[in-house]
Order: sequence, then C-alpha cells, then structure tokens
Amino acid sequence: METVVSGIRPTGNLHLGNYFGALRNFIKMQDQNRCFFFVADLHSLTTHPKPNDLSGNVRQILSEYIASGLDPEKVTLFIQSDVPEVSEMYVLLNMLAYVGELERTVSFKDKVRKQQNNVNAGLLTYPVLMAVDILIHRPNKVPVGKDQEQHLEMTRIYARRFNNLYGVKFFPEPDAYNFGDDLIKIPGLDGSGKMGKSENNGIFLIDDEQTITKKVMRAVTDSGPTAPNSEMPEVIRNLFALLKAVSSPDTVQHFTDKYNSCQIRYGDLKKQLAEDICKITLPIRKQIIDIRENTEYLHKIAKLGAEKARESAGKTLCEMKKIIGFHQF
Ligand code: TRP
Repeated sequence: METVVSGIRPTGNLHLGNYFGALRNFIKMQDQNRCFFFVADLHSLTTHPKPNDLSGNVRQILSEYIASGLDPEKVTLFIQSDVPEVSEMYVLLNMLAYVGELERTVSFKDKVRKQQNNVNAGLLTYPVLMAVDILIHRPNKVPVGKDQEQHLEMTRIYARRFNNLYGVKFFPEPDAYNFGDDLIKIPGLDGSGKMGKSENNGIFLIDDEQTITKKVMRAVTDSGPTAPNSEMPEVIRNLFALLKAVSSPDTVQHFTDKYNSCQIRYGDLKKQLAEDICKITLPIRKQIIDIRENTEYLHKIAKLGAEKARESAGKTLCEMKKIIGFHQF
C-alpha cells in the first residue's frame, strides 16, 4: 500500500483544471492506498489574507471534494490549519531551504509580477510549506497538475537534504503522479496556457449548464486551417486538450480529422465540448449544492480528518525532532 498526499488552495471554486489535475487522480487512488487530501488554507493566506476569503471557501471546497467523489471514509480528508504539526515542521524545514533557490521558483517570480504590493515572505517560502504538507505523511506519490512539478522537485530536494545532513533515510522522495503518462495541463478558455482561479478563464464544477455553454462558445479560436494537416496554433491545441480530457477518443478523432482536412467548424466542436463537460460536471454540481448546506456533516468530516491527519503528522514530527537533536536532555 502506498501513501498519497495532495491538496488544493481554497482561493476560489474548483475548476476543471483542479478536477483533472489533482482531484480525479486522487479519487481513483483512494481505494487502494493510504490517502491524505486537504484544503490548503494556510497557503491561501499568501494571496487571500482576509477572513471572508477563507470561511466560505473552505466550506465550498470541502463540499466540492466530497461531491467529486472523495470518500471521507476512505481518505483522510482534512483542513491544513487544523493540523498544528504542519506549522511546527514548517519552522524546521525552513532551515534547510536556501533563499536563492526559493527566489528562482517560477511561481514566486510569477506572484512578484502579479501582486507587487504584497510580496510577502510566505510567498517566498510557499514551496517549503508545500513540502511540509507532503513530507509530514512520508508519502510515495503526490497527484498534482503539471504546474506543481517544480514544487515537487523542491520537496524532493528538501527530503534529500535532510536525509544527507543527518545521515538518515527518513524522508522518501515522492513523485508527481498522474494516471496517464503525462501530467495534465488544462488550458484556459481565453487562449492562455492554464486554467486558473484568478485568471477568469475557467469552467467551475459549480457552473450551471447555461454558464458552461456560454463560456465554451466564447472560447478563443482562429479563422481555421488553410492547408491540410497544418500544425495547430496554441489556442486550438488548447481546445483539443480540453476535448481530450472530457470527450471520448472517437469524438477527439472525429474533430482531429475534420481539422486535418480543413473542414472543421469550431462551433460544432464547442457544442460537443460544452455537452461533454456538462456530462461530467452537472451531477457533481447537484451534489455540491446538497452537501454544502449540511454544516453538521461537514464539521464531522473535518474533525475526523483532523484527528487522523494529526496522528500521522505527529509521528513524523516527533521522529524528525529526535533526529535533529531535540528532546535529548
Ligand atoms: N500548491 C498547490 C496548488 O496551488 C496546493 C498545495 C499545497 C499542494 N500543498 C500541497 C498540492 C501539497 C499537493 C501537495 O494547487
């Protein structure tokens, strides 16, 4: 049995990128593995520091996890800030993280550009906290989307550095995990590379049919291929990437053939795409709406999750502190 860890920041509703990146893979793994899945609410403080950003979103995202098929009986489903061991280990791991290395992280450089008036130290050490989330359960696998690859590489570096410094084989070096061969990157509908919460280019699990159809029909395209078998420009490749994620291989083949023979009608492709997205998300939407009203149930789940997560985290932290040399006198 393998140990698997993943989490998602509660900075907005879950979108298809989250669903295909971390969540769906995680759900597939929950039967066979020891799984930890959490709401990364500490991480969200790096960009969303106010109480109103948090409370509603944590409820929403927890409901969205469960509605998507995460089974709280099978996985340890918890809220990051309910596990104080995470914050304690964060102090310890910070001593192994070099500032130069953190400054070079793609996500940090990106945030420096995007929120120039709030380049806080939490943003800089975001990868350290993420490494803690992961290493504190000593897992083998971390199901995440492609955008998290670098963070995971840093997690492995810290694990290795700790092991080397103290001459132990304590932390594993976990791998990114996806059921397909490649990590999936779900593009945005505005032709940009990535579906994101802040970019306003996403389709959310909570969107209704009309909203989804409207968003998809408005997705950016070009004027169509002019020669057979020509290479697709990025915006079109992105639409096909979405299609691949949600539609059957036959459907993908059908539109690929149409493209290659210059007969493609983007309107038809989008109609099909919207329909296939709805098939996946509308049943989830219905569940989300039911679950998020049920405060008592959500509290029960969070409490149970916190207990299980703390047990696992506490063990790691205790051993880690012994290795470092605390508790010796
Ligand atoms: N950085 C991840 C994201 O933005 C969220 C996250 C925080 C995470 N801690 C994690 C993902 C640990 C996997 C494992 O989506």
